[in-house]
Amino acid sequence: MHSSMDKRKHPKKTNPFHPTSGAAPPYLAGRKEDLNVFQGCLDCMADPNNAANGPMVLFGPRGNGKTALMRHMASSAAVQGAQVVKLEISELKTPEKLAKHLTALANQSKSISTSETRLVGGTAGVPGFAATEGSIETHREHLEPSLTRALGTLGRKPCLILIDEAHTLPLDTGRELLNAEQSARSRGASLQLILAGTPNLQDALSDMNATFWSRLDNRRRPLGLLPRADSLDAIAKPMRTSIADEAADLIMKETDGYPYFLQMMGRSLWDAGHPTRKPITADAVRQAIPDFARSKSGYYIDRLRDLERGDLLMAACAVTETAQAQGGFAALTNSDIKAACERASAHSQKTVPELVDGLKYSGFLWADEQSMDPMAPYAVRPWSCGIPTLSQAVSHEVCAQWPDVHPKLLPPERRAEANREQAAPQSTVDANGKVDQDADGLKMP
Ligand SMILES: Nc1ncnc2c1ncn2[C@@H]1O[C@H](COP(=O)(O)OP(=O)(O)O)[C@@H](O)[C@H]1O
Ligand SMILES: [Mg+2]
Repeated sequence: MHSSMDKRKHPKKTNPFHPTSGAAPPYLAGRKEDLNVFQGCLDCMADPNNAANGPMVLFGPRGNGKTALMRHMASSAAVQGAQVVKLEISELKTPEKLAKHLTALANQSKSISTSETRLVGGTAGVPGFAATEGSIETHREHLEPSLTRALGTLGRKPCLILIDEAHTLPLDTGRELLNAEQSARSRGASLQLILAGTPNLQDALSDMNATFWSRLDNRRRPLGLLPRADSLDAIAKPMRTSIADEAADLIMKETDGYPYFLQMMGRSLWDAGHPTRKPITADAVRQAIPDFARSKSGYYIDRLRDLERGDLLMAACAVTETAQAQGGFAALTNSDIKAACERASAHSQKTVPELVDGLKYSGFLWADEQSMDPMAPYAVRPWSCGIPTLSQAVSHEVCAQWPDVHPKLLPPERRAEANREQAAPQSTVDANGKVDQDADGLKMP
């Protein structure tokens, strides 16, 4: 039976852009270095004369494309013949659950034909591994050998194991998994583990295994904003067109190269009726901006709610006001951040160190290693706001909803200024409105 849709000769082209967490973008822009490192791992895993590399870690503030990159890596590995195993956090609640799940997968993988495997020729058994059968030991002391055996069986042919949102991995499960993965690999298993998570992944992994992070080397991949050329590709390639210079400037001003916003902009341009293949002009972008701005403000509302639920809104505001006074986030020092959190702590249940960590962990404060000069070994990573211009939304929100608290969050220099403005109301302007540059310091030329 055919549906009426099948009868259409030329189905309408639907909007390819999906500004949704975890959605595969129509074109994965940039991330070439990360993909090169990943390809190196796949090659090593396929080389019988070489040991598989250790795990790879993707981390960064939400919306920067960790899940998208992971999905891309999974399909690329599958095309090259590797097995791909995606572990869901729900399957990893306890080490026992993990062992059960991996054993089942290992048993399954043994029965799958490996003739199509392109990464390695043949399926030679991994020395040192007994066959994994049936039940698993559920006593804690036997778990690691069970896990190692299961991973060894999976790793008889190249196997990519993915864990997204790995910062939420329970400590004991993570500990067992990291140990078993290392021991299976050291006994020749062809495994490539990829973990993705928010910026607190480093601390979470270090708690599971003290030396894990330092052993990652270049397989530790911070994911921040996309550079200009890649950002424009994210929109132009799916539309199979080019972008005029003035339009490109506008797109960068609106999106800051944040992948989530780029998808929103692409969707709005498409919905505004921009015909594909025709170069995108500044006028086309201007037409799309109202719709884009609506989506962006919806996104901010969700992120503001996250900050408020995490009791971080006042601290985020205090940090923003300090950045505002100093010309951007990049000028902030750790002492500035601590002082800002001290001001906020009177209006929050959290202690100062909890506020500082909370802002870093949530990605509100993000120091992207990739933006550093690789030739300057002592370079300091500048702070930025991990979700571009969320800082301005924070400042407006607190100003509007807690007008009594807002002045107390200002740094001393801004407070004096605010008092002067109060004393001379005729010259008063909105504390945020009068700053013409972006508080994140991201839009500065
Ligand atoms: N490199 C990229 N090029 C184009 N779009 C991307 C890219 N990375 C992510 N996106 C898009 O950005 C949005 C957020 O990506 P996502 O993978 O969910 O981020 P994260 O997992 O870091 O929170 C999604 O709509 C995704 O399709
Ligand atoms: Mg994600």
